[in-house]
Amino acid sequence: MSRPNIARLVLAAPAVLTAEKSFRRNPVIGSHDLNKKGLHRRRVALAARMAERRRAAIAPLVDADERARFDRDGFVIRHDALPADLLARVREEIATRPRPAWEMRQGQTVNRVQPLPHDGSALASLHTFVRRPDVANLIGYAAGRSGTTLTMLQTIVVDPTSGEPDPQAHLHADTFHPTAKFWLFLHDVGADEGPFAFVPGSHRLTPERLAWEDEQALSATASGDPHHAAGSFRLEEHELSRLGYGPLEKFPVPGNTLVVADTYGFHRRVESLKPTVRTSLYGISRRNPFMPWNGLDVRALPYVRDRGMDFYLASEDRRAKQGRKVVYKNVGSILAGAGQQL
Ligand SMILES: [Fe+2]
Repeated sequence: MSRPNIARLVLAAPAVLTAEKSFRRNPVIGSHDLNKKGLHRRRVALAARMAERRRAAIAPLVDADERARFDRDGFVIRHDALPADLLARVREEIATRPRPAWEMRQGQTVNRVQPLPHDGSALASLHTFVRRPDVANLIGYAAGRSGTTLTMLQTIVVDPTSGEPDPQAHLHADTFHPTAKFWLFLHDVGADEGPFAFVPGSHRLTPERLAWEDEQALSATASGDPHHAAGSFRLEEHELSRLGYGPLEKFPVPGNTLVVADTYGFHRRVESLKPTVRTSLYGISRRNPFMPWNGLDVRALPYVRDRGMDFYLASEDRRAKQGRKVVYKNVGSILAGAGQQL
């Protein structure tokens, strides 16, 4: 092996004990030889064991019924999540007040994000909602580790005539370890409007799933699917039974429903056959899966904790100014429910 190659491996090695998931970007994680010796399998198994321990510590803080449903299904659906008066004010604000927005296109779907403001508005009070112990502990339990969440207003704008199929409509797991996403749907989401779709129980690491992970790791680096190569493994629905799981299910929900899921479980966005716009309060909680403790998150410090998206999007704008590639493009101030800007 040449010197530059050895140096590259040495630099890439510490990421093995982090949440890094990309087989293509990281030559150690993507090493065929190391994965043949069980590197990926061991990361998956160790991360699952650590999450189990951390979850046991959070368990007493989570509502017993929601905990039981999460343990069984890998997600929790909670109706009437926001107090009715706050919901009405949030709906009114998003329908009437344009706010700074950024967009990413994935095929025919535009993913629009808008940071929550820090003023006296109803939207600003959603920061407080996410920090409420009954909400934060549920998200932490689903993530397998408590800590802060990256929270934003998210609008999915689908125009079936505007592009290729959406890559997120392919069944997948987000990464190799427990990790949480949540959506507080502000309006009804019907069966034909891209509802949440998840394979109940697929957050559990079955022996068949572990063998499948092992198998995927050997070919992921060379996969023609960039998401698969990036460690977000795709699979076909007919393969679910081989992994010991039941079928994919869709969950249309009424407005004001909170869905919290461990997206190590298999899920996908459901294609919409008609133009659709749906807005939710959305968040991600993903931390290093190999740490034995729950708390100790610098991103949870006051001031910083509610500004994760502001920092991220400001850095996207800086990159765009320098002519570098960005994930989210600034589209100016618009209403959450506006049509596709990109
Ligand atoms: Fe996903």
